[in-house]
Amino acid sequence: MIKFKSDFALGTATAAAQIEGGNVDSNWYNFCNVKGNILDGTHCKRANQHWLKYEEDIALLEELNIGYYRMSIDWARVEPKEGHFDESALLRYRKEIEIMKNKGIKTYLTFHHFSHPQWFEDKGAFTKAENIKFFMRYIEKTLEYVGDLVSEYATLNEPNVYALNTCLAGEWMQKNKSIIKTINCMNVFIAAHRSAYALIHNYRKEKGFLDTMVSYAHHVRHFTPKRQNNPIDKKGARLLSFLFQEGFFEAAALGNFRFPFKNILNLPKGPAIDMISLNYYTRGETKYFNDTVKENVPKSDLGWEIYPDGLIKEAQRCYNLIKLPIYVSENGCCDNEDAFRSLYIYDHLKAIVESDLPFKRYYHWCFLDNFEWSDGELPRFGMVYCDYETQERRLKNTAYFYKDMIQNHGITEEAYLRFVKPCKYHKDEVNVLREYLSEEDVRKRR
Ligand code: BGC
Repeated sequence: MIKFKSDFALGTATAAAQIEGGNVDSNWYNFCNVKGNILDGTHCKRANQHWLKYEEDIALLEELNIGYYRMSIDWARVEPKEGHFDESALLRYRKEIEIMKNKGIKTYLTFHHFSHPQWFEDKGAFTKAENIKFFMRYIEKTLEYVGDLVSEYATLNEPNVYALNTCLAGEWMQKNKSIIKTINCMNVFIAAHRSAYALIHNYRKEKGFLDTMVSYAHHVRHFTPKRQNNPIDKKGARLLSFLFQEGFFEAAALGNFRFPFKNILNLPKGPAIDMISLNYYTRGETKYFNDTVKENVPKSDLGWEIYPDGLIKEAQRCYNLIKLPIYVSENGCCDNEDAFRSLYIYDHLKAIVESDLPFKRYYHWCFLDNFEWSDGELPRFGMVYCDYETQERRLKNTAYFYKDMIQNHGITEEAYLRFVKPCKYHKDEVNVLREYLSEEDVRKRR
């Protein structure tokens, strides 16, 4: 039997643009309209229709005894046209959060999970410092409607990933391929996070709430040199890790700016997080200065290596910099047959339980199968299955495992035998995107 600590809790996470469907004013809506942008040709306008079916989804959370839910607000619904706020959307979000609160489900609310209004995109989004004021105005407005209900916030989701995918990989939105633009975008994100951190705290303090917890969801990947004794691979792994993670984290979370990170708005120094909020999926092997995927190891259906220790190592690295409680704000895998998801969760939770670090939450990504950004509907990450045609939801085996762990506040021998033992990671590489990708692309994928 694995027992969880008394102050550790399981939850699950989603993101608005990936589940809500039908948001015609967002950057992702327009991005999906362009042929070729989404690998399998699907569109985020469908997703899980959660905007309409949210009560049904809350009932599922309740059925699974889930008490912690991370969700995001879609800015484009709240402010579809510049300066025009849609009160009905704000009230609809309030209702969703209120229903959950009444059922004892605590919300961890993200203000930006990769999606924003098209008008903001047209202004250059987070590539320009002068656009941060729009982000602040949206947060302030949203707080007026939900600020009394929610005490835990993430300003941004994975700004390092967003900057990379848009400005370096050229896969999303701006479609740039420039390291200078990527660093510039990261610097804008850092300033946006630090400004939003102060804003949320000030707002809640003025209203008399003293329990506010704010962070941003920091994506960590564990970089290791491909050839352990090769000095260039070692340097490469260090450099990638610094640029993608530590350097960004030190600047955003601690206010300690090391080149090339800059305090572009000259904001006050000092810590700007109340918990370390980490999204962790996999590790990468660095060959020279390139990020590659290790061979002959367990992998998910997207070809991502399954490496639970990486979570602990990256959490330790952040904790060495700032001693705060740790939330795993996302962790999960693409497993279209639900053949090894329970084992994946078990392996990561076991690593958490065996560690001395102060892990307080684990939010499984994802609650529902959903729209997986430019990979479309094909990769399935959910503990709940969604038939996109009929919009029918079905609990997968993993969902029952999750429910059992919550009820027992740990993993019993019976649950292990029933849910975990029958699971097997792939021996041979399976990649659900294979039919859409060249061999080269399959190899390059994280
Ligand atoms: C993102 C999620 C995404 C997941 C799986 C994370 O980086 O925050 O939105 O679905 O990875 O790709």
